[in-house]
Amino acid sequence: MGIIFHEEEQLFQLETLNTEYWIGIADEMYLGHIYYGKKIGDARCAYLLKTGERPFVPSKNRKEKASFTDSFPYEYPTWGTGDFRESCLNVRTAKGYRGCELFYESHAIIEGKPGLFGLPATFCQAEEQIKAKEGTEQNIADKAKSDLPGAGGQTLEITCRDPFLNLKVILRYSVFDDSDAIIRSAEIVNEGAKPVYLEKVLSACLTMDDENYDYLTLNGSWARERHIEKTPISHGKQGVFSERGISSHQEHPFLAVLDRNADQEQGRVYAMHFVYSGNFLAQVEKDPFDSLRMVMGIHPEGFCWELEPGMHFTAPEVVCMYSSEGLGKMTRNFHDLYRSHLIRSPYLHKKRPLLINNWEATYFDFDTDKLLAIAREAKKHGIEMLVMDDGWFGQRNHEYCSLGDWTVNQSKLKGGLEYLVEQVKAEGMKFGLWFEPEMVSPDSDLYRLHPEWAMQLPGRPATQGRGQYVLDLSQQEVIDYVYESVAKILRSADISYVKWDMNRPLTDVGSLYTEGKKQGELFHRFVLGLYQMQERLLKEFPNLLLENCASGGGRFDPGMLYYSPQIWCSDDTDAIERLEIQEGTALLYPLSTMGAHVSDCPNHIVGRSTPFTTRGHVALSGTFGYELDITKISKEDKEEIEEQTALYHKYQPLVREGDYYRLASWRENHHFDCWEVAAKDKSEALVTLVQVIAEAAFRSRKIRIKGLDAEADYLLEETGQVAKGSLWMEGGLLVPRDNGDFISHLYHFVRQ
Ligand code: GLA
Repeated sequence: MGIIFHEEEQLFQLETLNTEYWIGIADEMYLGHIYYGKKIGDARCAYLLKTGERPFVPSKNRKEKASFTDSFPYEYPTWGTGDFRESCLNVRTAKGYRGCELFYESHAIIEGKPGLFGLPATFCQAEEQIKAKEGTEQNIADKAKSDLPGAGGQTLEITCRDPFLNLKVILRYSVFDDSDAIIRSAEIVNEGAKPVYLEKVLSACLTMDDENYDYLTLNGSWARERHIEKTPISHGKQGVFSERGISSHQEHPFLAVLDRNADQEQGRVYAMHFVYSGNFLAQVEKDPFDSLRMVMGIHPEGFCWELEPGMHFTAPEVVCMYSSEGLGKMTRNFHDLYRSHLIRSPYLHKKRPLLINNWEATYFDFDTDKLLAIAREAKKHGIEMLVMDDGWFGQRNHEYCSLGDWTVNQSKLKGGLEYLVEQVKAEGMKFGLWFEPEMVSPDSDLYRLHPEWAMQLPGRPATQGRGQYVLDLSQQEVIDYVYESVAKILRSADISYVKWDMNRPLTDVGSLYTEGKKQGELFHRFVLGLYQMQERLLKEFPNLLLENCASGGGRFDPGMLYYSPQIWCSDDTDAIERLEIQEGTALLYPLSTMGAHVSDCPNHIVGRSTPFTTRGHVALSGTFGYELDITKISKEDKEEIEEQTALYHKYQPLVREGDYYRLASWRENHHFDCWEVAAKDKSEALVTLVQVIAEAAFRSRKIRIKGLDAEADYLLEETGQVAKGSLWMEGGLLVPRDNGDFISHLYHFVRQ
């Protein structure tokens, strides 16, 4: 395991638990992709770099160089010198000439994994990552290198150069001892004497032959996030992207290329997932020779980065994952990677306080008394934390004012925030608070004082979204102000949890402070400003439980996960709508990261009524909590809350730490949904089954349980039935016939 350079063959071999990735240095120092997949373990694979009948390298036929450049499997393709497929790097000189060509120069294999300055990144060990973060943009790579003891992983740094521009490109590949992931990123360094303009810098590229593959993406909209979609790959370019300044509800920074018949257990899957929270491009292209090129990175639209001599630009990371055992294995690989190498929160392996949020209970119409009444009743039924959502600051009685004015509304909260927090604590509960720091309302004191702090195109009325503007987080002054106004509130009372919201996409992306040639940096600088604020927050309040949110799941991505161990999954809390949303989200993310609450019925978004039990069972596969006015619900529902909180305490460690298996999808079978979490030590497993639509002439349904010890006996607690693991796994569990829609069951298997 690890990274080897085969000197004689001029090959790099990157080995993970079950996969290998090979890169070759071809004649004339072109760097090419050779192979990615199951282990082959043979350095005689260099012949795979040859591209059929076409000339291997230009020197063999310089007059036809263009046919080489248009078919060579570049590791990191560039624009303008004859490769007509999607490029990763497009460079313009100050005089306006575009074109770049990279040649291998040197490499280093280092222990550990350097951090990325200002960006979220996977790490070998959390403490090392924190160390690597301290530094400046200039010295961070060296510092990180020398500081990392390197337990648990290795990094290959391949340095390439464009000799005409004197532009250095460092391609980084990291592997961990306990994972199948290969982490890629790229750093561009201007070693020339003049500035250059980076018009496109993607982070990773992967080339392979097309074998009748499909591609899989996660798509949706507000309140309908991350639905799984599979499409055949055709000639040309296809994929997903965001130009909204956030990773978005609409598309997800993820792309998988997979065998047409791949399912949960079998088939080849090549996946890429972007550790970034802004604009992205995730694309697969089938070229005229039926070879595929997968790329991922920051979307080039609206992007242009001025790189002055001596300066670096670091492209965010892409996680590459190959599974030869279908989507299920890919999913578990991602879950393990994010739990072990991305999420840093002290809550990662801890039970999160069981919360009640007042948003759907009161919207903007609340005061101290109302909140305390909710807290008192919630406490009686086992709930542990009250979260005060939007509406507690400035004049905020509706969504069209006061963002930016982070001072407590004294007429709503008589006695102030501190009084409310102390009263909630006196009830024996913790307290959490909502913010939306990146925004400003036109009707706010902040905007009246600093209209120039909003993103805008001078002379053009800026586009409002939810009645608000986006703050110019490319400016340190604005970042400092916003951070301080949030931190001041957090310093003023005992606040255990923050819900950090963001409720509109970026438009009118212009900065009054920024010179013309740097306006193309704003989308990315906005994201860097956001990351900086969250990093500072975690440093100053290390025990804070942070939950990110963006109108529900509009910024649910690995980048945000680096700062918060959980993210609000969707504003749609309907249990049935949540099935598809949570299925798509759990394709990549551990269940412990998915914000999921029980809300009241008829559901506020879709008007559907579902049993309270079903709402509880679906939310139990997320962070779990409530989003309703507990003082107004029926006695029966309140009693069920007590049962559900008991289930939460019983199953939370398993749900948080276990292996996830998707057993059936109602998206495919149109009747029922089913998933399982099995303990890693095989001591127990929890299966959740939801009959969405009842059917006449009931078909026999057997669900084959996964991840048990074949030789051990397991008790199914709900029925008292005992059977061998092999029987549960091969024979299966008989699913009862339920009369009615939206009915759910939990099945708990315990090793005897
Ligand atoms: C967003 C969030 C909701 C709620 C509202 C408040 O839509 O997703 O949960 O906090 O904002 O305005």
